Amino acid sequence: MTAKRVTLDGIRILVSAGPTFEDIDPVRFLGNRSSGKMGFAIAAAAARRGADVVLIAGPVHMPTPELVQRCDVRSASQMRAAVLANLPADVYIGAAAVADFAPRSIAACKLKKTDGCETLVLELVRTPDILAEVASHSVRPRLVVGFAAETHDVERYARDKLARKHLDLIAANRVGVEGSGFESEDNALVVYGADCERALGPAPKTELADALLDLIAARLQAPQ
Ligand code: CTP
Repeated sequence: MTAKRVTLDGIRILVSAGPTFEDIDPVRFLGNRSSGKMGFAIAAAAARRGADVVLIAGPVHMPTPELVQRCDVRSASQMRAAVLANLPADVYIGAAAVADFAPRSIAACKLKKTDGCETLVLELVRTPDILAEVASHSVRPRLVVGFAAETHDVERYARDKLARKHLDLIAANRVGVEGSGFESEDNALVVYGADCERALGPAPKTELADALLDLIAARLQAPQ
């Protein structure tokens, strides 16, 4: 028997998921190890609860969850534009592993190796911080939820991001350990808010998605 889930009827939820790819030239890019599974699981679970879900997806090979409106993007700047274009929303969940840096310019032609040249220097520039921008936007969602993938000092770094980016909740996980993180079916999260801490899992990402949505639904129902 499955537990009765709190409904999210009439709630508009914007989810970003997957990696971003930052092109170097027509055949190469900088990317990161994100399967998109966590964000897609959140989008699917929210739609099952009746939410109106828009999923901004980086380049991943994942089927679109039922009743979810999907917008595919490639780079961080495209993801930013798609997220902002889909505001206002009641909730923003930034589950994407956005590349932190992108090449300053994209070469129009394939970069060729030259004999005797053993190094290549790429100039990278910071990408826009989509999560921080949404959290300080004039039409800020009622809840802004971030993710933090950390290899060490998880709580310290997660709480720092929570405060610095003005988030309501941050879901932190340790990466670089077996059974957790990017390519795994399972994960373990600790969700931090200014006044709360809640461990979720280890569990399949589909279950974690529902557990996270329970926390979000409870916050939405709490008196403002
Ligand atoms: N994020 C974002 N835009 C970026 C970078 C990150 O929206 N350009 C969001 C991610 O979707 C995630 C959260 O910010 O929800 C955490 O991202 P992370 O890259 O781990 O945080 P940083 O503050 O960039 O810190 P660091 O890379 O130093 O760990």
